[in-house]
Amino acid sequence: MSFNNPTLPRMGWWKPQEDPTPASPHAMHGALQAVGHSLSLVERDGELCVGLDGTASIGSDARPLPEYLPLRAHVSPLRPENLGCPAFRATYGLRYAYLVGAMANAITSVEMVSVAARGGLLAFFGAAGLPLGEIENAIRHLQGSLGNLPFGANLIHSPGDPDLERATAELYLQREVRLVCASAFLRVTPALVLYRAKGIHRDPHGAIHCPNRIFAKVSRVEVARKFLEPPPGKILADLVASGLVTAEEAELAGQIPLAQELTAEADSGGHTDNRPAISLLPTIVAVRDEVDRRHAYRCPPRIGLAGGIATPASVAAAFAMGAAFVMAGSIHQGCVEAGTAPVVLQMLAEAGQADTAMAPSADMFEMGVKVQVLKRGTLFPQRAAKLYELYRAYERYEQIPAAQRSILERDFFRRSFDEEWQSTRTFFLVRDPRQVELGDQNPRHRMALVFRSYLGQASSWAKHGVTDRQIDYQIWCGPAMGAFNEWARGSFLEKAENRDTMTLAGNLLFGACVLARCTALTQQGIQLKEGSGNISPMSLLELDKRLGQ
Ligand SMILES: Cc1cc2nc3c(=O)[nH]c(=O)nc-3n(C[C@H](O)[C@H](O)[C@H](O)COP(=O)(O)O)c2cc1C
Repeated sequence: MSFNNPTLPRMGWWKPQEDPTPASPHAMHGALQAVGHSLSLVERDGELCVGLDGTASIGSDARPLPEYLPLRAHVSPLRPENLGCPAFRATYGLRYAYLVGAMANAITSVEMVSVAARGGLLAFFGAAGLPLGEIENAIRHLQGSLGNLPFGANLIHSPGDPDLERATAELYLQREVRLVCASAFLRVTPALVLYRAKGIHRDPHGAIHCPNRIFAKVSRVEVARKFLEPPPGKILADLVASGLVTAEEAELAGQIPLAQELTAEADSGGHTDNRPAISLLPTIVAVRDEVDRRHAYRCPPRIGLAGGIATPASVAAAFAMGAAFVMAGSIHQGCVEAGTAPVVLQMLAEAGQADTAMAPSADMFEMGVKVQVLKRGTLFPQRAAKLYELYRAYERYEQIPAAQRSILERDFFRRSFDEEWQSTRTFFLVRDPRQVELGDQNPRHRMALVFRSYLGQASSWAKHGVTDRQIDYQIWCGPAMGAFNEWARGSFLEKAENRDTMTLAGNLLFGACVLARCTALTQQGIQLKEGSGNISPMSLLELDKRLGQ
C-alpha cells in the first residue's frame, strides 16, 4: 500500500475507535466492503494503516491530542440506500434508486413488480402487448396486494393504434395508476397529455399538485426535450375543447413538465437506438438544465440511466455521472420472477456480450424500427431480417420468388400463406379490426400483417417455452445480459435458477458502493491493488449481514 502522490498533504488527524491494522490488500478489501462505516488511512510508526469509524479531524494542522494519528485519506460510509438522488427516493418512498424497467407481455410480471416494491425498488409492470383486460387484472392485483407501496405500469407508444394507446392511458386514470413509464414515443400524443393533466390542481398552499407522474424513457435528445417541456398548448386546447380536461387543468398542466422523471436509455434490450450511456446521459442532463433554466420549474424532472446496467461497475458509473436513478431490464428478464419460460432463463444465462443483434420489431415493422434481441441459440434475427427485406422488395406476397415462398411456408409459418393469413386475421379481428379491413383490401398490408404475426408469435413461443419453436424464439435482450453473466461466472449466480430480482439489485448496489469508495481513495492519491473493489456475488442473507455489520 503506498501513496501515489508524495506531495499529498496530510488531510488532518484521526483518533481510532479500534486499533487500525496495517493496510494490506486483504485488510483494505475488508474495510472497503464495510460500507456502513467510514474508512480512514492513517500513518502509524511510518506504516500506512486502515481503520474504521473513529473520529476524524479534517483540516487541522496541529495534532489535537497525542492519540490522534496523521490522516492520509478518508471515505465516508456509503450504503446502497445512499446512492442516487435523495429527493427522488423520498418522493416515491423508495429505499433504493433502482428501477426495474417494463418488459412487454408481462415479462416484468406481477410477481416481479411485487417483489421489487416490497424490497424498496420501483418496477413498471410490462403492459405492452397485453389486452386491456389483462392489464386491468394485473393492476387490480397489484393495488390489492401492495397497499401504498409504489409501482408503475408501461404506456407504450402505438403509432399504428392510437385508440389502444388512449384506452391504456384512460385505464390508468380510471384505476388511479399514478406512475407510468412512457416509452417508444417520438412525439407527444393526446393520450400522454390527458394522463398528465387529469386531476391536476392547486393545493391549499397554492402549489401545483399533479397526481399522475410520467417517467419518460427516451434515447434521443429531441424526444427528451419534448418530455421536459410543458405539454403542447395545442393538445391541451383540444383536450379542453373535447371536454376531457378542464380549463384549469390545462392551465396548470401548461406550467409543469410533461414528464416528472426521465430515463435516458442507452444501448438496451428491446427498442433501442444503441446510444452509448457515457455520452447520452450528460447530454440529456444538459438539456434538462437548459429547459429548467427557462421554466424555473418548482420540481424539475430528474434524469436516470438505463441501458447496460448489469454489474456493480455500471451502477457505480451511472451514479458517478450524476444519474438520479438506474433502471435495468435485460438482467431481470433472466430472473426467476420474470414472466417467461425456464428455457429462456437458461438461454439468457449462457449469453455473452456479443450474442445480441438488431432485428425488425413487430409493432413498428413497416417503419423499419428495430429491437435488440438475443441471437445465440435462435435464428430469429436472421429470419426477421429476411421478412423485412422481402417486405421492402415486393408489393405483394405472390411476387416473392416461389423458392423463397416455399422456405417461408415450410420453415417460418409451417403452413401455407393463406392459412397463416386466416389465423392472423382472427388475431387482429379481436385486437384491431381495422387492420383486417386494410389487409383484406391491400395485399402489401396483408403481407406486412402476416410477417408481423410471425414476429409477434416468436415472442410468445419464447415466453411459453414452445419446444419445437426454440429456433424462432424472439428474446429481447441487450449486452447487459452478457456483462452480467461475465460478472457472475463461477458464483452461485451463474445458475439461472438462483437469479432473483432483489439478489441482483442488492449485489449491484452494494458492489457499486464498494467501487465508489475505491474511486474516492484513488482520487486522494492512494494506490489500491487491482481488484480491491471487486465483490463476489452474495446471497441476500449474506448481504444483509454485511450491511448490518
Ligand atoms: C425482454 C425485454 C422487454 C422489454 N419490453 C419493454 C416494453 O415493453 N416497454 C418498455 O418501455 N421497455 C421495454 N424494455 C426495455 C426495458 O424496460 C429497459 O428500459 C431496458 O431493458 C434497459 O436496458 P438493459 O436491457 O440494458 O437493462 C424491454 C427490455 C427487455 C429486455
